[in-house]
Amino acid sequence: MKISVIGTGYVGLVTGACLAEIGHEVMCTDSDAAKIRTLEAGGVPIYEPGLDQVIAKARKENRLRFCANPADAVPAGDAIFICVGTPPLPNGDADLSAIDNVARMVASEATSPKLVIEKSTVPARTGQELKRALSVYTRRPGVTLRVASNPEFLREGTAVEDFLHPDRVVVGVEDETAERQLHDIYRPVLERQFNCPVHAGACPEGPAPQWLVTTINSAELIKHASNSFLALKVSYANMVSDLAERLGADIGEVTRAMGMDPRIGPSFLNAGLGFGGFCLPKDLQAFVRLAERCGVDFSMLKAAEKINKQRIDRFFDKVREALWVVRDKPVGVLGLAFKPNTDDVRFAPAIDLIRRLLEEGADVRAYDPQAMEKARAILPEVAYAPSAYDAAQGAEALVIATEWPEFRALDWEKMRARMRRPLVLDARNLLLPGEMRARGFEYRSFGRPDVVAEPQIA
Ligand code: UDX
Repeated sequence: MKISVIGTGYVGLVTGACLAEIGHEVMCTDSDAAKIRTLEAGGVPIYEPGLDQVIAKARKENRLRFCANPADAVPAGDAIFICVGTPPLPNGDADLSAIDNVARMVASEATSPKLVIEKSTVPARTGQELKRALSVYTRRPGVTLRVASNPEFLREGTAVEDFLHPDRVVVGVEDETAERQLHDIYRPVLERQFNCPVHAGACPEGPAPQWLVTTINSAELIKHASNSFLALKVSYANMVSDLAERLGADIGEVTRAMGMDPRIGPSFLNAGLGFGGFCLPKDLQAFVRLAERCGVDFSMLKAAEKINKQRIDRFFDKVREALWVVRDKPVGVLGLAFKPNTDDVRFAPAIDLIRRLLEEGADVRAYDPQAMEKARAILPEVAYAPSAYDAAQGAEALVIATEWPEFRALDWEKMRARMRRPLVLDARNLLLPGEMRARGFEYRSFGRPDVVAEPQIA
C-alpha cells in the first residue's frame, strides 16, 4: 500500500521504516528540513538498535523515501500516519497544535480519499476533533477523509522489534473500510509474513500478535491507560522499596516473588530512580488532566507522579549519608540516558540527578555509552569522560544512574583501583550488594541493605 508518515521523531521514523520493511511504499516527511536532509544523506538522527539498517535497506529497495515538504507527502499516500510530537504544555495537557496543523494541511492538499491515522499519543476525543478539522478545511467535494486511531506501544531501545513483534495491534475505526485498510497494512505483522531484520528470519516462537478493533475513543484511551499503568507499577515498586529499606528487607526479592504471580507479572517492578523518557511522565500528566476535565478522580495517578518526583530526593539522602559533605567532591556518574539502549536524555532521571549534584557543588564526571552528545547539549557544564573507568578516576563516589548492561560487566577491581574511595551509589539496583561487598566496596542502592565501610579500629 502507498503510505505517508508525517513526523520523523521516534515513532514516525520507526513506523515508516518498519512499514517499508514489511513491503509497503512509504514516504516520510517532517517540517524539520534539517532532519530530512540528514535522513536523505543516509544519517539517522536517533540511536535505536537496528533502525539504521532497516532504513538503509528500505531506501535501497526504493520502498522508503523522505521529503522536506509535508504537502508533497499527502498525495503520496492512501493512508497517512500522523506521528508528530504531542509534548506537554505547562499545565500538563498534551500540546495538540502539531496535529491541528497536519489536519489543515492534509485537508487542503488531499485530492483523493485518504485514511488519516493517529499514531501520536493523544488524549481521548482527539480523533473527533481531528475529524472536525479535516471536514471544515476540506475544499474538494468527494474527497473522503476517514479518521482512525492506531496507538503505538514501542519502547525506545527495542523499537524495531516491538513494531514487528507487537503483543497487540490496536485500531480505533468508524467503519469497515478503515478496518480493512488497517488490517491490510498490518497483515504481514499479524501473519508474521516478513523477513525479520531483528532475528535474521529466525524469530522466537510465540503467539501471533492480537488484532484488536475498537472505537477511536477507546483506542486513544488504551494508550494513555497502558502507559499510566506502567508508571503506576514502577511507583508502586518504589513505594514498597522505601518500606523495604526501613524493614531491612530486599526489594529485589520482594518484587521477584510478586512478579511470579501471573496476575502481577515480573515487568516494570524494578525499583530505582524512577521513570523518565518522553512518554511515561507526559502521558501520565495528560491522562490526569483529561480525567480532571471529565470530573473523574485520578488521585491514584497523582500519587504515582509524586512518588516518582521524590526519587531524586530519596537518592540524594543516600549521597549525603555516604559522603557527608558533597561540595567539591569528585563524583563519577555512569549513565545519562533515561534508560539503556537509547541516546535519549529527554526527561531522564539521570540528568535531574546530575543537576542536583551540581547544585550541591559536586565535581561531576559523567559517562554514557550513547547519550553523551545529547547530554552535552543540555548540560554543557559537566565534564564528560571517554570511558567508565575515566569517570571513576579519583572519584570519592561512583553513581550508577542508568542500568546499561555493560556497567555490570566492568572490571570492578580496576574501578576500585581508580577511585579515591571505593563507594558505589547504585540508583538503578544494577549490581548486587553481596558482590560489591566481596569486591571491597561500600555500596548503597534502593530497598536493599547497604554495604558500609567497617570502622578501622587501630
Ligand atoms: C514507554 C512504554 O513502555 C511504551 O509501550 C510506549 O509506547 C512508550 O513509552 P519508553 O518510554 O521507551 O516506552 O520506556 P520504558 O521502557 O517504558 O521505560 C520508561 C521509564 O521507566 C524508564 O525511565 C525506565 O528506566 C523506567 N522503569 C521501567 C523503571 O524505573 N522500572 C521498571 O521496572 C521499568
